[in-house]
Amino acid sequence: MNNQIQVIKKIIPSTFNIEKKEACAFAPSNIALCKYWGKRDEYLNLPATSSLSISLGSKGAFCKIVPLKEAREDLIHLNEKLLPMNHIFTQQILNYLSFFRRSGKNTYQIQFNLNIPVAAGLASSACIFAALIQALNALHQWKLKPSELSILARLGSGSASRSLWKGFVKWQAGEDFLGMDSHGIPLEEKWPELCIGLYILSQAKKPISSREAMKKTINTAVFYKSWPEKVAKDLSNIEDAISKKDFEQLGSTTESNALSLHALMANAVPAIVYSLPETLACMHHVWHLRQEGIPVFFTQDAGPNLKLFFLEKDEAIIKSAFPKLEVIKPFQEKFDYA
Ligand code: DP6
Repeated sequence: MNNQIQVIKKIIPSTFNIEKKEACAFAPSNIALCKYWGKRDEYLNLPATSSLSISLGSKGAFCKIVPLKEAREDLIHLNEKLLPMNHIFTQQILNYLSFFRRSGKNTYQIQFNLNIPVAAGLASSACIFAALIQALNALHQWKLKPSELSILARLGSGSASRSLWKGFVKWQAGEDFLGMDSHGIPLEEKWPELCIGLYILSQAKKPISSREAMKKTINTAVFYKSWPEKVAKDLSNIEDAISKKDFEQLGSTTESNALSLHALMANAVPAIVYSLPETLACMHHVWHLRQEGIPVFFTQDAGPNLKLFFLEKDEAIIKSAFPKLEVIKPFQEKFDYA
């Protein structure tokens, strides 16, 4: 019995029936302030270090799941399109569903609708797996706790473990062999003035998936050995900044963490570079604004797009500097996820 199945058996009740005709769920996308990069177990997506994120309010994935009676195959739709069976996304979803099928017979129609670009470094896989596990939980009426859902979402994609909550979420690396202590924990602190600007420079699919890039970095980047130490420092600075509401500390640590991650990737052999010329131009623009006294910072994930951090009082000036910016106020959204 492999470890994924052991984890499933520990969490999901041994007898369950499909009691509902359909179930729906929503999960927000999340952006890491202190990044997850590196695994201690690649089957369970157990991280080498802890990480910390902020959820993106109403930006994320809706999932509707309907059990099929007659069909021999699952039907997976992404943004209203039926995907072919050999599509990489279909394969990922089918692989994940295989953990949960008790008899080979039950098939599903699953519809995902995302209001963020897919696979462009905006944590689309995080919200997809978090929405899917919540829909499965509702469909089968497992009545699992959020921490259990977080563990199960992690089996689909590591960062999905942080997409079960609004606001700031810390993902504890944990020590347990099966990762039963490696799940998201929501932080109590709220920061209503905090704004996130999505600066979409390209919606193109990324040249290399974050999963592949992570593996290549760990196997080939000599700088990787210093990464856990950097994360430990950044994590403690970010938690401290959140508790004190010190925006400069939050922004500068977040930005430094992202730049270090991308330096680490550039150190891989062959180098992994997600930035486009426009990405660097945007970074320079941010630094220029800071020199002018405007507190604005950025982070970057496995893609060329940047996410800017600033406070509501500076919204007008930031918007005029970046007219295409989509502004999210994670703590002001009235959106009800249920
Ligand atoms: C740069 O969670 O996509 O966004 O666990 O292999 O699915 P897998 O990786 P994934 O990696 C996310 C990487 C990141 C940083 C982060 O979100 O912490």
